[in-house]
Amino acid sequence: MTSTQSDTGLETAVRFPADFLWGAATASYQIEGAATADGRSPSIWDVFSRRPGAIVNGDTGDEACDHYHRYREDVGIMSSLGLRSYRFSVAWPRVQPDGRGPANQAGLDFYKRLLDEVQGAGIEPMLTLYHWDLPQVLEDAGGWPARDTAERFADYAAIVHGAFGDRVRYWTTLNEPWVSAMLGYHNGAHAPGRREPAAALASVHHLLLGHGLATAAIRSQNESATVGITLNLAATSPATDAAADLDAARRIDGVANRLYLDPLLLGTYPEDVVRDVAAITDFGFVQDGDLATISTKIDMLGINYYTTNVVAAPNGNGPDAGSPHPAAEDVRHIGRGAPKTAMGWEIDPDGLFQTLKMVSDNYPSVPLYVTENGAAFDDEIGPDGTVDDPERVAYFDSHLRACHRAIEAGVPLRGYFAWSLLDNFEWAFGYDKRFGLVFVDYRTQRRIPKSSARFYADVIARNELW
Ligand code: NOJ
Repeated sequence: MTSTQSDTGLETAVRFPADFLWGAATASYQIEGAATADGRSPSIWDVFSRRPGAIVNGDTGDEACDHYHRYREDVGIMSSLGLRSYRFSVAWPRVQPDGRGPANQAGLDFYKRLLDEVQGAGIEPMLTLYHWDLPQVLEDAGGWPARDTAERFADYAAIVHGAFGDRVRYWTTLNEPWVSAMLGYHNGAHAPGRREPAAALASVHHLLLGHGLATAAIRSQNESATVGITLNLAATSPATDAAADLDAARRIDGVANRLYLDPLLLGTYPEDVVRDVAAITDFGFVQDGDLATISTKIDMLGINYYTTNVVAAPNGNGPDAGSPHPAAEDVRHIGRGAPKTAMGWEIDPDGLFQTLKMVSDNYPSVPLYVTENGAAFDDEIGPDGTVDDPERVAYFDSHLRACHRAIEAGVPLRGYFAWSLLDNFEWAFGYDKRFGLVFVDYRTQRRIPKSSARFYADVIARNELW
């Protein structure tokens, strides 16, 4: 890696390592549609999205981007962007509609067709086993708060790895277990929409256990498989140096970052977090050997980054029922006053650098990938039929510079995936929020690459920013 110096000594170009893995990411429920095709059973999102008021505009993933039928066109777009890698997820209810027992061959066949196309285009797949679409039958049996779901996940992982282990190199068990547990079971903003703090903390453990059991199941089929997990992480800082603000930052960092990083990479739950949540749970769900299973060595850690946390002491008004942070519902989130994306998230590229540094400074070394980074803006088709999104170009540019800075600082960052390839179903926000490099006109399913897609294609082709 080199930096180009101009005559003035200012850095003019930043070059990435030759083998840097450039990609874009999607997730099954957000793009596939075809919700009842070929034996797929309902997932918790099919059920939750029908709950009145749960999703903006009452949107569902029934059709989404119709990627299930249009995957060839979509892989063609990936090719035209020069993507080296494509991160996607497999829908558990397609592959194992009963959540247990035998595989549904017709469901596996879709991913076989997709992989044929992706690999035929010379694109390296990164397969995520779980991006939030739990079969509803397993939620009916208790969902992630139930230990059995972890065992079921390992069986499902063995099925998918058995089918594709010979052709897919990169395996990710879970995407963002914090979101599954906290939005799904603590504040109920996501499927299955439960508000049960103790169940949410049990879910954290069973998701992590599922990750460990699935990793072992994959390794028992192929010792040299590359397996990891993706976490959403955010560097957290106090609004001031006052002791109460410092403590607020410790608590949020605890429940948002360390509650996942510590068991996975150190084999322990952080003592201060266990104390903070003691009134909710005594961690009685942890059984002998679980932490050894959870801390099974991983070959890569995916980090999804969107924004950071700046926090301050509670204002004394009592807990905020909508907060996703158990035992820290009353902590105030303070803005930095920076510009925001359409999600209302402040744009903080330095926070990506800080997040990568935090992981590489505080934990044993593991290859890192930014498995998601991107921004929603209110894109529109212009009079000439194109979609111009200069704010997204600036977002990618600044965050990629932060990645480059991290690499120069010694962080073992091996790749970057833009979120997302396509505009898609943004969970509780439905189709209202557009994160894509490619605009999707949902009335016609027409795809229009935005100017950010051209920018990203240039970055990939040059392997540098200019
Ligand atoms: C992270 C999630 O993995 C993805 O599904 C979501 O669309 C993005 N964040 C944006 O919110």
